Amino acid sequence: MNEREKLNEIIRLSTELSTIKDIDILLERILFEARACVNADAGTIYSREGDLLHFSHAQNDTLQGKLPKGEKLIYKDFSIIIDKHSSVAGYVASTGEVLNIPDVYNLCSGCGYYFDVEFDKKSGYRTKSMLTVPLRYETDEVIGVIQVINAKDNDGNIIEFTEDDALFIKHFASTASIAMKNARMTRTLLLRMIHMAELRDPKETGAHVNRVAAYSVEIYERWANKRGLDRKEIDSNRDVLRMAAMLHDVGKVAISDTILKKPAKLTPEEYEVMKQHTTLGAELFTNTESRFDRIAAVIAVSHHENWDGTGYPKKPKGEDISIFGRIVAVADVYDALSCKRVYKEAWKEEDVIEEIKHLSGTKFDPEVVDAFFKSLTVIKAIAEKYPDKN
Ligand SMILES: [Fe+2]
Ligand SMILES: [Fe+2]
Repeated sequence: MNEREKLNEIIRLSTELSTIKDIDILLERILFEARACVNADAGTIYSREGDLLHFSHAQNDTLQGKLPKGEKLIYKDFSIIIDKHSSVAGYVASTGEVLNIPDVYNLCSGCGYYFDVEFDKKSGYRTKSMLTVPLRYETDEVIGVIQVINAKDNDGNIIEFTEDDALFIKHFASTASIAMKNARMTRTLLLRMIHMAELRDPKETGAHVNRVAAYSVEIYERWANKRGLDRKEIDSNRDVLRMAAMLHDVGKVAISDTILKKPAKLTPEEYEVMKQHTTLGAELFTNTESRFDRIAAVIAVSHHENWDGTGYPKKPKGEDISIFGRIVAVADVYDALSCKRVYKEAWKEEDVIEEIKHLSGTKFDPEVVDAFFKSLTVIKAIAEKYPDKN
């Protein structure tokens, strides 16, 4: 790419990134595009949380290539300290410098930071060249770090990142951080809405809704790939679904405390009132011009419908229930059964699995259940990412 093409590429990417509203989907995309621009085999993106850098996403083409089609790499969640004398990413976040390292196994003596070989040891990967750039908002505030790993030449040999690569990623990072800032704000506002619902119904915690939403995105991607949906459509639906699924039970804010917090079983009349959280939730999203509102409304109203038409509130059957509702139904029940709640213990994993299988074809769409089981490894990793607080 020449200078002009690179500039055009940055402009194109900045427009594209600004259409992504969900922070997780956005970070994944930023990393992907950054790697594509400099032909990097792997990469990691961290977002800042106070004095720590939190690992957000990692991608690795070589390791991914060793997995069967459709499988995803599972990374352990971790945080690193932001300072000058621990990790490379921590150093970059603390100083705001760009580091272009030809070989991380040969760091300059006395540079202060270290490369942790643990991941390489476990995975059999050899990290060599590494370009680490701070994600900065309005020149000063570091909100994350992007790290691209192992530049490749046209024959696939690992080479160093060039000065041009560094410049390009630096420009790209400043564009990306604006989109990041907005997406973070959206996530914060959604979690605040959920916190309001949580004050009324302690079952609807931030952790629960993050899990249900992230499971839903995984299940949807499996389902959509199997159906052969277009990549663009899948990506934009994942983005909206990640946010909208969080609000599946937000209608509970309108249900009275005597019913929501009743320590005993609900009477049939009370249960009828409780069921209204579906339609009441949908009523919050009335802007038919907005795709987010349309999908959030559809999820709120349909997440208790059953495949065989025995659910509530409207009792449609089969594919007359929105796919988003069918997916959130499975994700929500899986999470509710797997977790401890005030009124019940967590179910044993094999019992949860049995129950989901058992409900396939009656309560749940068998195709969605199938996608759920195929995504189970990723789903379990998500559960670890968003643990309950107590
Ligand atoms: Fe619900
Ligand atoms: Fe829920």
